[in-house]
Amino acid sequence: MKHLLKLLDLSTEEIIDILNLADQLKYEQKHGIPHNILKGMTLGMIFQKASTRTRVSFETGMYQLGGNALFLSSKELQIGRGEPVQDTARVLSRYLNGIMIRTFEQAEVENLAEFGTIPVINGLTDFCHPCQVLADLQTIREYKNKFEGLNFCYIGDGNNMANSLTVGCLKVGMNVTLACPEGYYPDKQILDFTKDYANFKLVNNPVEAAANADVLYTDVWASMGQEGEAEQRKLAFKGYQINDEVMASAKSDAIVMHCLPAHREEEITAKVFEQHAKEIFDEAENRLHAQKAVMVRLMAPEK
Ligand code: CP
Ligand code: NVA
Repeated sequence: MKHLLKLLDLSTEEIIDILNLADQLKYEQKHGIPHNILKGMTLGMIFQKASTRTRVSFETGMYQLGGNALFLSSKELQIGRGEPVQDTARVLSRYLNGIMIRTFEQAEVENLAEFGTIPVINGLTDFCHPCQVLADLQTIREYKNKFEGLNFCYIGDGNNMANSLTVGCLKVGMNVTLACPEGYYPDKQILDFTKDYANFKLVNNPVEAAANADVLYTDVWASMGQEGEAEQRKLAFKGYQINDEVMASAKSDAIVMHCLPAHREEEITAKVFEQHAKEIFDEAENRLHAQKAVMVRLMAPEK
């Protein structure tokens, strides 16, 4: 593994290896065992969209690994004034040991990786959010102690989260059901990928999708960059919500997950959110551990 651009690029073995390392790093951090694996290294973090979790977990994670992280707002970089990504990649490769980028187009991330000579990590694009899903998988395994045969249900927009969750959950052996309204299905590349999986279903009815679910997941109706469509989306997604009715359809010990930020009473009720806050914030914490594992594998592959 040279980069983390999208989960489609990773084998099941690579995903499991990252999760195992994430568990180990989490244990070490909780027990005060130092792991200065990336001592003297620097990660550049390019942000073209807002972030709380991604920024803070990468920055803290890099610090805990003995390295440094630089926050690079794309507004203040020359990239924001039109310097080509190909040149930015070649310049940053001379200073840094790795780049994390959050942006709109997946092609920009792929270009950065192609033209740079250092590992590139996708911190969210319109197409996918692989770092989030690695943390999600770590969380699911913590709660359920396995992946094989679990029923995973996602309710809402067929967006970057739905794309990455579908790939990640299928690759580790879960049964995946999505409930999305027509016109808001996952990306075609993802639907093509699912053709090899008989345990994937895409339906329109959230209650039907949640039947017997072990894990329920949702995300916002309007993602970053779609603020102008918010009103239209509120109509399209009405009923695509994790609420008491959906919970009653799932298994009684189902866990509820959300990548955050959440919009209460839109994609999830405040009641269900608070009843499952433990899982949701464990999930947020695991961003730190899973990303530390990704950085170690990419930036110090020999360790
Ligand atoms: N879940 C997630 O990526 O959060 P941020 O947008 O706050 O980074
Ligand atoms: N789908 C959301 C995820 C945020 C972490 C967005 O892209 O805004």
